Amino acid sequence: MSKMKVAVLGATGAAGQNIVEALVDHPWFGIDCLAASERSEGKRYRDAVEGAVFFERTPGDDVMGISVQNTDKVDPRDYDLAFSALPASVAKGVEARFAEHIPVFSTTSAYRYEDDVPVLIPEVNPGHIGLVNIQRENRGWAGYIVPGPNCTTVGLVMTLKPIQDAFGVKTVRMVSMQSLSGAGEKGLREDSPYRKMVEMNVYPWIEGEEAKVVAETNILLGKLVDGRIVDAGIDVHPTCTRVYVDRVHTEVVDVVTERPATLEGVRVALEGFKPLPQELELPTCPERPILVLDEVDMPQPKLHSSKGFMVTLVGRLSEIPRVGNGFTYIVTSDNLEKGAGVGAVQNAEFMKAKGYL
Ligand SMILES: NC(=O)c1ccc[n+]([C@@H]2O[C@H](COP(=O)([O-])OP(=O)(O)OC[C@H]3O[C@@H](n4cnc5c(N)ncnc54)[C@H](OP(=O)(O)O)[C@@H]3O)[C@@H](O)[C@H]2O)c1
Repeated sequence: MSKMKVAVLGATGAAGQNIVEALVDHPWFGIDCLAASERSEGKRYRDAVEGAVFFERTPGDDVMGISVQNTDKVDPRDYDLAFSALPASVAKGVEARFAEHIPVFSTTSAYRYEDDVPVLIPEVNPGHIGLVNIQRENRGWAGYIVPGPNCTTVGLVMTLKPIQDAFGVKTVRMVSMQSLSGAGEKGLREDSPYRKMVEMNVYPWIEGEEAKVVAETNILLGKLVDGRIVDAGIDVHPTCTRVYVDRVHTEVVDVVTERPATLEGVRVALEGFKPLPQELELPTCPERPILVLDEVDMPQPKLHSSKGFMVTLVGRLSEIPRVGNGFTYIVTSDNLEKGAGVGAVQNAEFMKAKGYL
């Protein structure tokens, strides 16, 4: 079977590199175009990413030697689908230009809050993909846009979903300790002022992040009713911080359930979570999406990858004393893999498996 032709937009950035990594040797999708800004135009991919390399598994010369194109000059009609890891302000126009012709799987927030756009984590809200047909009809597009959520929302919602299914979720308090790569290139370049500010520090402010977590958690856990997402109505209170960790976000989550729950019940719900993508055996899906760890010193961002890149790790699970039906745990989730690049590839795999590609 010949592979579908893929263009990666924003291919030189943190999320873009992660998409490229996921596409190397992918059984369904081939890399046919790497595009970025005019700054990178005409450079070999290896030269364009020099000084800000995010690869866990660096691609071979066949990919690193590709000449990077200027996104503004790429014709979407030459490809079957596109991945977008552009800054949101740039993505607004570019993603629409591509979606007029082909499906676009995005890591950006540009279209996340529009009524006819499904923000997708296939394990959490597979039913929301019905919005794609409405989107195409509304906009007269042959393609469509499917964004993934913000990287901080992903780990949180992955763990809330099985709890919601089993007991309902009433309130959520979350404190994040987010890695530098979540800020993209400016987070990881050695000479970046942003990185210097966080060095040996906890920086207690990430612009716009908390509002994204509140909105996206309620969208993802909401229901599609009569062509619209009905918000889950959960009281979510996040505090987002940046810490001096290169990769993987850590979150302390306190959740109060709607219906009576026991600690053992919450553990069984998390450990037994086997959603649709796992049943479909999508190429990027781990066998089990959530692992509950018993070691008192786990999970740690530094050790996250030892359990897998796409998995959501839960540790320190316990009851909150004197709070009825209150539970607390620590989550780690890879902000680049599950939270951005491979997450977008997983969304494309899911849409293909469901007949939308
Ligand atoms: N990092 C994460 O963990 C993460 C997680 C979830 C979502 N996201 C989202 O993913 C998107 C990319 O984030 P990132 O962290 O990968 O950012 P980044 O490292 O700063 O990369 C930005 C990319 O966009 C390209 N670009 C910038 N201006 C452009 C323009 N005018 N025209 C065309 N291309 C342009 C850059 O190309 P040049 O190299 O040529 O400048 C680079 O490839 C953002 O919307 C972000 O919010 C990121």
